[in-house]
Amino acid sequence: MNIILLGPPGAGKGTQARILVDGRNMIQLSTGDMLREARSSGTEMGNRVAAVMDRGDLVTDEIVIGLIEEKLQGDKQGGFIFDGFPRTLAQADALGALLEKTGEALDAVVEMRVDDEALVARITARSTCGDCGEVYNDLTKPIPADGKCSNCGGTTFKRRADDNAESLKQRLMEYYKKTSPLIGYYYAKGDLKSVDGLGEIDEVAGRIAKALG
Ligand code: AP5
Repeated sequence: MNIILLGPPGAGKGTQARILVDGRNMIQLSTGDMLREARSSGTEMGNRVAAVMDRGDLVTDEIVIGLIEEKLQGDKQGGFIFDGFPRTLAQADALGALLEKTGEALDAVVEMRVDDEALVARITARSTCGDCGEVYNDLTKPIPADGKCSNCGGTTFKRRADDNAESLKQRLMEYYKKTSPLIGYYYAKGDLKSVDGLGEIDEVAGRIAKALG
């Protein structure tokens, strides 16, 4: 099964993708994580995109499509979860063409609906494990009291450079201008499943499981 998790910054795409990876042996393809990895390893592409990401703007279609194309050639396991990709109509068209080329199909696009106020609250309280990327939240999923990641036991936690009020405003603007048209695009194709993204993490996971059947 190949699915897209579609939603604004902070909707919970990464959190839910990790649950699907554990439960269904799927592979999470997060273009945000791939770009962060590139910038921390200091590649030429990583250096080029760092400032763009920190401002909250979108990286060029060409770069992210190239990243995804490379991953589609690897192991498929229980299928792919596209997390944060596609984000523009050009990326959506490119993904369709890439899947067709590899003989794969897109099974569902899960739109996670969360209101803007909740997004801001979630993002400004987020941290992630520096070793495995497990996502935490000061308010709703705090780092365990012993200071060790519940997933891998790691003890370093990071806050993202773009998780500040100014970048978030721009990320939301980019989402509404360039990514939200994908809701209509996938609705018209008959792939869209809309899920309420507010509520406990497990509750949202249950709604997604039901939507996927
Ligand atoms: P990316 O890394 O994709 O960031 P994003 O889309 O802004 O999404 P986030 O990772 O911020 O949020 P999320 O929905 O995954 O939420 P999470 O689960 O962490 O992209 C970063 C940048 O890279 C972009 O701005 C752009 O520059 C570039 N980029 C990436 N892909 C690109 C592309 N395709 N094209 C062009 N540029 C691209 O949850 C957030 C917080 O909420 C956490 O603290 C979590 O614990 C908490 N939380 C989760 N669920 C719940 C819940 N149900 N209740 C309460 N709290 C919850």
